[in-house]
Amino acid sequence: MSDPRPIGVFDSGVGGLTVLREIVRRSPAESTVYLGDNARAPYGVRSDEEVLAFSTQSLDLLAEREVKAIVVACNTSTAVAIGALRRRYDLPILGVIRPGASAAALATRNRRVGVIATPATIRSHAYFSAIKDENPAVEVYEHATPTLVPFVEAGELSGPTAEAAVADALAPLLGERDAAGESIFPRPPGATIDTLLLGCTHYPLLRSIIEAQVGEHVAIVDSATATASALAELLGINGLEADPDADATHLQLTTGDAGTFHVLASRLFGSAFPEVEQVELAVAAT
Ligand code: DGL
Repeated sequence: MSDPRPIGVFDSGVGGLTVLREIVRRSPAESTVYLGDNARAPYGVRSDEEVLAFSTQSLDLLAEREVKAIVVACNTSTAVAIGALRRRYDLPILGVIRPGASAAALATRNRRVGVIATPATIRSHAYFSAIKDENPAVEVYEHATPTLVPFVEAGELSGPTAEAAVADALAPLLGERDAAGESIFPRPPGATIDTLLLGCTHYPLLRSIIEAQVGEHVAIVDSATATASALAELLGINGLEADPDADATHLQLTTGDAGTFHVLASRLFGSAFPEVEQVELAVAAT
């Protein structure tokens, strides 16, 4: 038995395309429908109520498109809303926090992991709890970096302004002190992180800048590969895999401007994903 229905993939904007890319690599026979709520990104600086309401509207739309499973490729939505979303739909719903946390806990050698993410994700401490579940001995240094998502949504993935923003965002995790000279994370001298977890699906698009700034001694981990593997496993367990010889189709939906979305998507996928459709989201019934 095979199941030709698509997998729904959701993010507030273009960040989830980094997860979609890994899903397509890992499961090339699977069709996908991606929804970016670009018109209302960023989510990470919004209240939990707004994140829940917007995520619900978005997943309602994907569910209407007859998907067989949904990947919430947004850490903010996963952190705030995954429980409510799982209760709402009769579909397997996969988030990005557990796969990323597990990858980071396995990557660290000195048991010190830094996490950068949106304010809503950091406020939830979802990464702290998930990494501690994997290995309670790991010290987790969480840091909100609200300035980075707008660069990615604007397609500004390189250049001095983006580099300066990344440097500012990372300084408290890499150095001992913040801009005001205060120590952010009390720790013994020399006890620096050896693993940086990109806890927002937008951040891998800034990876080359981040890599240059953290240096070669800090491993950079994100959720994309681990989430794609978890999805493949989930499809297998549930008997939802597509025919391995199927011709997969990929549809991209955005609440924002289809042209802008297409430019960003093309940077990641080349011309392989030509179709972008603009959609409006209906208000979700609670
Ligand atoms: N890409 C999302 C995340 O992983 C959200 C970014 C945002 O909209 O603030 O958290």
